[in-house]
Amino acid sequence: MTSYKNGTPWLDTDGKPIQAHGGYIIKYGEYYYWYGENRMDDNYVSCYRSTDIINWEFRNNILTKNSETEATRVKADMSLANEKGGKVNIERPKVLYNEKTKKFVMWAHFENGIDYHCAALCIASCDTPDGDFVYHGSFNPYGEMSRDCTLFKDEDEKVYFVSAGRDNADTHIYRLASDYLNCDKFCGKLWQGEYREAPALFKRNGEYYMLNSWCSGWEPNQGKFSRSFEITDNWRDLELFGDSTTFTSQPAFVLPFEKNGKTEYIYFGDRWCYKSLSLGVSNDDDTIDYYARSTYVVLRIQFDENDDPYIEWNDEFSI
Ligand code: GAL
Repeated sequence: MTSYKNGTPWLDTDGKPIQAHGGYIIKYGEYYYWYGENRMDDNYVSCYRSTDIINWEFRNNILTKNSETEATRVKADMSLANEKGGKVNIERPKVLYNEKTKKFVMWAHFENGIDYHCAALCIASCDTPDGDFVYHGSFNPYGEMSRDCTLFKDEDEKVYFVSAGRDNADTHIYRLASDYLNCDKFCGKLWQGEYREAPALFKRNGEYYMLNSWCSGWEPNQGKFSRSFEITDNWRDLELFGDSTTFTSQPAFVLPFEKNGKTEYIYFGDRWCYKSLSLGVSNDDDTIDYYARSTYVVLRIQFDENDDPYIEWNDEFSI
């Protein structure tokens, strides 16, 4: 394959649709690793790898209902199934490699699969990028609600976790402890009462950019962006990004991609296919089958004369 047709099933090298939603891509060694949600069977998070970000080889279901658990120093809920024995929801998984501990560490959004009231984050880790991750449980950072989320590693090696707090009203930003197994600072709250979800962060020419969506469940809405020279402060007012439905997608992440000595910034969004907006029925087979038909929208971010980011529709994504 030399390109991906936006909004169609993206087939892996075995010919199966890639299940890696709300995900994240990192480069490690010669491979890119794509992590994301997989709601099939007992799976939570799957991992694929590629050298060209078009052809992806399935590697492993790295977090499942049966994953091993191991407590850390953080008091956390260790359950990977709910009190009814059903699956929990583990959404928007992001993975970074920790140079100090030599571990791949995942942060994600946790809900119990029964109601939508946990609003917690969860953490897992592994010695290899695509091995079986060990689950370290879910908790509310500093007692706060924490839903849609992302991780961002800065040039000075500090890592930040951004998530939707206060029932999604505000965007919260935390700094991670050096082993990535806890937060070490609650850095602040952004865009009070603006109900932003699906945060995606990147840095270009020393400036931070954040993309996000509004809250409309699985329905797409108008994306927005902001810019700042300080990751935890002085973010500009949000401005429009993409069209009124962000080309029928919701941000998952932005991949900085080196091409001919230049860095490109590639927007990855999810085009969700979901039968019901009620997560209370998310363990219903039919609903899972529907979710499995979710696809992706991948577009190169362009920058105008003021360095504001924008995307234009393109049927195909190629490198
Ligand atoms: C979206 C969110 C998704 C998922 C969904 C559930 O707004 O971005 O990650 O949680 O709601 O309705």
